[in-house]
Amino acid sequence: MTVHDLQTMAARGEKIAMLTCYDASFAKLMEAAGVDVLLVGDSLGMVLQGATDTLSVSMQDMVYHTRSVAAGSRHTLIMTDMPYGSYEASPEEALDNAQQLIAAGAHIVKIEGGGHMVATARHLVAHGIPVCAHLGFTPQSVKQLGGYKIQGKTEDSASQIMADAEAMSAAGVCLVLMEMVPAALAAEITRRIAVPTIGIGAGADCSGQVLVIQDLLGIYTGPADKDPGSFKSPRFVRNFLQESTSIQEAVSRYVQAVKSGEFPSVAHAY
Ligand code: KIV
Ligand code: NA
Repeated sequence: MTVHDLQTMAARGEKIAMLTCYDASFAKLMEAAGVDVLLVGDSLGMVLQGATDTLSVSMQDMVYHTRSVAAGSRHTLIMTDMPYGSYEASPEEALDNAQQLIAAGAHIVKIEGGGHMVATARHLVAHGIPVCAHLGFTPQSVKQLGGYKIQGKTEDSASQIMADAEAMSAAGVCLVLMEMVPAALAAEITRRIAVPTIGIGAGADCSGQVLVIQDLLGIYTGPADKDPGSFKSPRFVRNFLQESTSIQEAVSRYVQAVKSGEFPSVAHAY
């Protein structure tokens, strides 16, 4: 599997199945289950470290988990999040940090935001680094966005996300990931831009889907300092373990449900 294959899959209409992965055991299991891309997400700040958001995750954390995932997979693409504070200050600093993630085993790095991040994406691509742009709800800006909220609901914000997706595509990114945007907007962006799209809470018409593995297994009950009973899963989550007898089966069912277009359903979309 290469970065180029993502484009080939999207072109022939085969959905891309992506899951977050933070260690070698899950990498091996996911590879066997046919997951196309392993995302070493900075969601590990929440699901592994118990934080309330992703802002405290460090480069060192991301390098460590990328190495672990790379050690457990032989031919699956690995995409690693650039953590908060590692790419915003300048394209040069972003390149330096992206190179560390690539050296740790990532094939693609993901950055959040459009606007002035377009120049950073272009700089990384010019230096041979495959980039994914994360648009819509961008968790590293949760404080600015005022909570875990759907983005692109107004005409202005929808056109902004569309413009960012087009600018990122023109900058040479290999994927555009959209989180918590209306299904119709994600579908329109997927039709318009040349690169494959990945959705999470973005409807069924993206080129592929991603979920946090803990959400798929029903084991994320909110940050460590909160009562598990007080946490409500976002609407785009589906517990695949409930309908399976093993973790392997749950992951395989997720892959099949993404490939067949059965997941996400309208109930998981905005
Ligand atoms: O960190 C993460 O898990 C992510 C996905 C939710 C897209 O960025
Ligand atoms: Na992330």
